[in-house]
Amino acid sequence: MNQKPFKRSRVAIVGMGAVGTTTGYTLLLRQRMSELVFIDVNAKKARGEMLDMNHGLPFLGGVKVWAGTYEDCRDADIIIVAAGASQKPGETRIDLLKRNASIFGEIIDNITKVNDHGILLIATNPVDILSYVSWKLSGWPKERVIGSGTLLDSARFRYLIGLNKGIDPRSIHAHIIGEHGDSELPVWSLANVAGTPLDIPEADQEQIFENTKNAAYEIIDAKGATSYAIALALDRITAAILGDEASVLNVSTLLSDYNGVSDVYLGVPCVVDHNGVREILDLPLNDVEKDAFQRSANKLKDQISKLDL
Ligand SMILES: NC(=O)c1ccc[n+]([C@@H]2O[C@H](COP(=O)([O-])OP(=O)(O)OC[C@H]3O[C@@H](n4cnc5c(N)ncnc54)[C@H](O)[C@@H]3O)[C@@H](O)[C@H]2O)c1
Repeated sequence: MNQKPFKRSRVAIVGMGAVGTTTGYTLLLRQRMSELVFIDVNAKKARGEMLDMNHGLPFLGGVKVWAGTYEDCRDADIIIVAAGASQKPGETRIDLLKRNASIFGEIIDNITKVNDHGILLIATNPVDILSYVSWKLSGWPKERVIGSGTLLDSARFRYLIGLNKGIDPRSIHAHIIGEHGDSELPVWSLANVAGTPLDIPEADQEQIFENTKNAAYEIIDAKGATSYAIALALDRITAAILGDEASVLNVSTLLSDYNGVSDVYLGVPCVVDHNGVREILDLPLNDVEKDAFQRSANKLKDQISKLDL
């Protein structure tokens, strides 16, 4: 009989709030790894989430789940960080910077004390700036420090385009790039279905992008947090890494002379495999898009320059 050889893989999640918990549950349902560990400053909450998920194992099997400490990051292939403050209704992601940057020093230090080989996958907002901070603080190669970037925004964009066209969103090729936040931009010039232009009227295009950009505000206003789609996005990145897929995903990565932008993390299409970001794909942006991309970069660089790194 041809049996798949057993390969142990461990994912650690730091921050078991709405995002961390839903991500853990998604990874568990999809059996992405053999070991899953939850870490939170609120150890009781992490334990409660762990117990609840473990009681589902008779229906699932396959994965060892426990609530642990940073020591458990030692053998982790991926450490997902979703710890920290989240947006309250009306708050921007940048509004979270001070609060969340202040806890990242300790979190990244605790992880890198015990692990020097894994991949850091950052979700906490503002995600691009905190990915940059994590890269700086960890001293790890840029390939192994990844932000969830505009993967979620691109999914929202493709979903809305799919609705407009009456086509399965998985068949829509369209990108949101730049900041995961208010300065992000749609790359309409390259959006297509099977290589054919989308042919969406301008007013519809504007509405689709507005709805994409403001999705988190609308959801947070309605239910207090976003969780399901970000969990699926983090699951998708995890699968690309653990499965050595070389999938193209719009994650946040360190840019160097990319459409005129350097030394900042932003969401762009990247080839993601077992080593993290293997390659960045060079989108041939038009002048308007290039301008908007550079504005997005400058906005974040300005914020980064105020941090004590
Ligand atoms: N990247 C994305 O696309 C995306 C999408 C949604 C939310 N987010 C961000 O993810 C973060 C988490 O959002 P949420 O809704 O899960 O928030 P939440 O408040 O529900 O959970 C945050 C968790 O972090 C824990 N925590 C706080 N400080 C910690 C520390 N120092 N060490 C360990 N754990 C700590 C808290 O105890 C809590 O359980 C926010 O910054 C939010 O803006 C990002």
